[in-house]
Amino acid sequence: MTLFQLTCMCRSESEYKFIGKIVEEVSIRIRCIPFHVANYPVGVESRILEVTSLLGLGSDERTNTVGIYGIGGIGKSTTARAVHNLIVDQFESVCFLAGIRERAINHGLAHLQETLLSEILGEKDIKVGDVYRGISIIKRRLQRKKVLLILDDVDKVEHLRALAGGHDWFGLGTKIIITTRDKHLLATHGIVKVYKVKELKNEKAFELFSLHAFKNKKN
Ligand SMILES: Nc1ncnc2c1ncn2[C@@H]1O[C@H](COP(=O)(O)OP(=O)(O)O)[C@@H](O)[C@H]1O
Ligand SMILES: [Mg+2]
Repeated sequence: MTLFQLTCMCRSESEYKFIGKIVEEVSIRIRCIPFHVANYPVGVESRILEVTSLLGLGSDERTNTVGIYGIGGIGKSTTARAVHNLIVDQFESVCFLAGIRERAINHGLAHLQETLLSEILGEKDIKVGDVYRGISIIKRRLQRKKVLLILDDVDKVEHLRALAGGHDWFGLGTKIIITTRDKHLLATHGIVKVYKVKELKNEKAFELFSLHAFKNKKN
């Protein structure tokens, strides 16, 4: 049934508004399909806790950015996906740009800006032309939106300047998570809230090894 058909069935304006709200809510939730986190997640909860506390959820800050850094394969993207799943329904729109390092080389930054805009606005075929126009369009169209933006595997400050260049680009309550191997890149972009993903402690590392080796925690 379409929204129009539902509207025709409504007896009053308040019912129309109520149903409109439901439709809006359902479409937000459909877009919030959770990511697969890991086959055998171990120690993810503590990492989620650290990152969410740095994000300052519920605060009125215009934009809050947290950098997750650590060596390759340590679990940065996994942590970002797990945090995304936990908090995504608190936002008006969401965009998880995975693998930026490679996508920037293969497709360019303007293409990444187009993906960001399309996902957040829910519109297909957005074209920005070039990176500088892309910046203007992002600022103009997203400055009132409360978004969750995840920029995964960033390795150049230009990526951040093109995709999340300033605190005034997005609306109140926006949260940005950046994953990178390069701690200094975060400092260069003025990001002070950072979380280092460390190796699992012996006991947890053994648990993960057992899960992979025997597919069972108790072995
Ligand atoms: N906490 C964890 N528990 C279990 N598996 C994990 C955990 N963190 C990462 N992994 C696994 O390790 C691999 C590398 O993780 P990933 O998040 O891609 O690393 P990074 O983004 O730091 O390069 C993936 O296969 C992922 O499923
Ligand atoms: Mg990664």
